[in-house]
Amino acid sequence: MTELTFRKTEEVFRRPDVDLTTRLGSITFPNPVFTASGCAAAGQELDQFFDVSELGGIVTKSIMLAPRSGRATPRMAETPSGMLNSIGLQGPGIDAFLDKDLAWLHQRGARAVVSIAGGSVDDFAKLAARLRGQKGLAMIEVNISCPNVEDRGQVFACDPMASASVIQAVKRSAPAGVPIFAKLSPDVTDITAIARACVDAGADGLSLINTLLGMVIDTDTMRPALGGITGGLSGPAIRPIAVRCVWQVRQALPDIPILGMGGIRTGLDALELILAGANAVSVGTTVFGDPSAPIRILDELAVALAERGFGSVAEAVGLAHRPPEVHVPEGPDPVGDTDPEPQQEDEQ
Ligand code: FUM
Repeated sequence: MTELTFRKTEEVFRRPDVDLTTRLGSITFPNPVFTASGCAAAGQELDQFFDVSELGGIVTKSIMLAPRSGRATPRMAETPSGMLNSIGLQGPGIDAFLDKDLAWLHQRGARAVVSIAGGSVDDFAKLAARLRGQKGLAMIEVNISCPNVEDRGQVFACDPMASASVIQAVKRSAPAGVPIFAKLSPDVTDITAIARACVDAGADGLSLINTLLGMVIDTDTMRPALGGITGGLSGPAIRPIAVRCVWQVRQALPDIPILGMGGIRTGLDALELILAGANAVSVGTTVFGDPSAPIRILDELAVALAERGFGSVAEAVGLAHRPPEVHVPEGPDPVGDTDPEPQQEDEQ
């Protein structure tokens, strides 16, 4: 199957008639393609390339309570088929975010999925409380898996009990009726144990996966390439890991909504995650080189679904889990043409 690489042009491209709506918790989104947190800020920069309200939703850069300058530079390094980032949750803080970014998304008609990050359970609870009554808020993504923190103890998603404490606190403080998704790390032995702990604590869905902890050493300077030493690996290099995590969690929790992400560059990549069990996908690293990628991927996904005879995206969710088809051979014995000659009846 060849990859679809065309770009949308209004004159020649009409999206096939496939029902792209998808349900994440209590909310039905018009289509399953979202931005990924941290790769598109709050969507303003992308809006010059396409109408951001056309996407399923805009997942904003994780916001903390206070403004934060992030880690030392350099903060990015190229890797084979990927990218390493060590931003360190730089951001304006929740007050400025609500005034400028969320307000802009609301005015623009986009569905905002607000990603929150904290250094403690209490931080997360306070952030969730600040989102009460905010217009334009469609969903909350709870980032318990950022690898760029001072110590691994702050990566709540590495421990089921720590994950559950955050989700419980967010659920108690967040606006009623707004789905809460926990964003998990693949850097664990059993992602299904963390997923289950979050769901038992009240998560309405799961975002899978955050970046993997990685490192690059510059062979000229003979020092770590990143100011923060380690960073989060993203891009196509991690897609098979994302597919594996979505697959495992879908198998363990058949009914939980999943927002899948990790190295999606084309509509077929998006379809792969959907077939593994994602109800929707987030497009991240690829927007740095191709800012219109999310809308192109949406078009390509619609074509890929139509080509395979799907009437809706929902029909494709988790389809790769169906049992293998048993092929009953027809016609001659497949072992070879060894049938004995038909017996002639003895002439009397
Ligand atoms: O460093 C960062 O801001 C990255 C955050 C994340 O991957 O969650």
